[in-house]
Order: sequence, then C-alpha cells, then structure tokens
Amino acid sequence: MANGYHYFETIEKHAGLLGIGIALMVSLGGLAEITPLFVRAQQVAPPENILPYDALRLAGKDVYVSEGCYLCHTQMIRALRAETERYGHYSTAEESIYDRPHQWGSKRTGPDLARVGGKYSDEWQRLHLLDPRKTEPASNMPAYPWLAEKTLDADDIVARMRVLRLLGDPYTDADLAAAPAAVAGKTELDALVAYLQGLGTAFPANGLEPGL
Ligand code: HEC
Repeated sequence: MANGYHYFETIEKHAGLLGIGIALMVSLGGLAEITPLFVRAQQVAPPENILPYDALRLAGKDVYVSEGCYLCHTQMIRALRAETERYGHYSTAEESIYDRPHQWGSKRTGPDLARVGGKYSDEWQRLHLLDPRKTEPASNMPAYPWLAEKTLDADDIVARMRVLRLLGDPYTDADLAAAPAAVAGKTELDALVAYLQGLGTAFPANGLEPGL
C-alpha cells in the first residue's frame, strides 16, 4: 500500500508495537501534566506565619505517622462547599510545606483533621486518644493507651531536626540546642496532643480569609 494507512495497519496488527505506541503517548501526556507541577512546587514559598514544627510537635507528627492515624483521617479540606462548611477554609499547598511526607491522606473513617487545632482542649484530646469511647460513646477509633507510657528520645528528635535542616527546613542552631529541653520528660501522648493542637492554626495563609 502506498498511502499512510499502511503505517496504521502495521501498528494495529502488532499488539507489541501498539502497546509501545500507547505507552509513548500516555507518557507524553503524563509529562505534559506533571512537569509544570514540579516547576510550581519550587515556587511555593512558605508564608511568614508558617514555620517548621517545633521539637515537640515534630515528635508528635512522627507518632501520628507511626500509629497510622492517616489511615482513617485526612488532612486535606477540599474546595467543596460541604467540606468548607464542616471543616473551615480549604487547605492550601503552603500549609503542608514542612510535612515530609504530607498527611493529606485519602481515607476518611474519621473527620478531616487539617484544622482540628484548638477545636478541643488538651485534656479532651488526651482523654479521646486514651479511650475514644469516653468522649464519643459510638466511636470506632482505636484507643492508644501506650502513648502515655513511652517517653521521647531527645537525641532522636535532634537528629531528625538536623536531617530536615539539610533538606531545607529553616531550623536555627538555637532551635536544635533548645530541642532536648523541650521534649525532656514528655511522653508520646504529650507530643501527639501538641501536634494535633497546632494543626491549621497558622492559617490564614497568604492573606486568605478563613471560612470561605
Ligand atoms: C479506625 C479508624 C481511626 C483511626 C486509626 C484513628 N481514628 Fe481518629 N477518629 C476516628 C473516628 C471514627 C472519629 C470520630 C469519632 C470520635 O470522635 O472518636 C475520630 C475522631 C478523631 C478526632 C476528633 C476530630 C473532630 O474534629 O472531632 C481526633 C483529633 C482524632 N480522631 C485523632 C486521631 C489520631 C491522632 C489517631 C492516631 C493516633 C487517630 N485518630 C486514629 C477514626 C479513627
């Protein structure tokens, strides 16, 4: 065949060739979508009121991750009316700039926690984590009694802060020097409560008004 259909026919009749062709086109499409996002990620600058986690909250974030809280809780309020009416202003990229890895999550067995900071007292948070049935009789959230028994390891926290500084978090020498005292004698429960109470409190970011 002398016309261009010849090429189509060759590709369509060979599954391998067709597969390679499809993979090529999908990759090009994917690159066109993803590359601009990487470029934009470099441009997201943290506003002044969003600071890296202090030592105790950083330890709390590690507890949050190691206990798998993200398996039931998101930290990503979507820009949908039902969400913003329930949880507050939708989440912005700047707010999770110091989260490695981010805790946006995708499964909501429990409520979104992006703005839970300050919603309850510290005492409520402690009670709830030790036994969720005490504050919410029908809750199916697991109890985490062991958190009150494990004390934090100051050396470990300082090492983590050092690594985060290498990755670009603006911790000062004074922050590192103050860390051991900030976590001395504290339990994982104290750290987790401090972390939860800080969530969403640096908002509004970039002059956005909460509430939508
Ligand atoms: C099996 C799923 C599940 C897991 C795992 C889980 N939760 Fe929950 N969580 C829930 C449910 C359901 C609720 C709503 C009922 C309640 O208040 O207990 C809830 C409620 C909460 C609330 C109150 C939110 C609000 O706005 O009222 C906080 C805070 C919370 N969880 C923190 C945590 C933390 C921290 C962890 C990890 C240590 C965790 N959860 C693990 C299911 C879970």
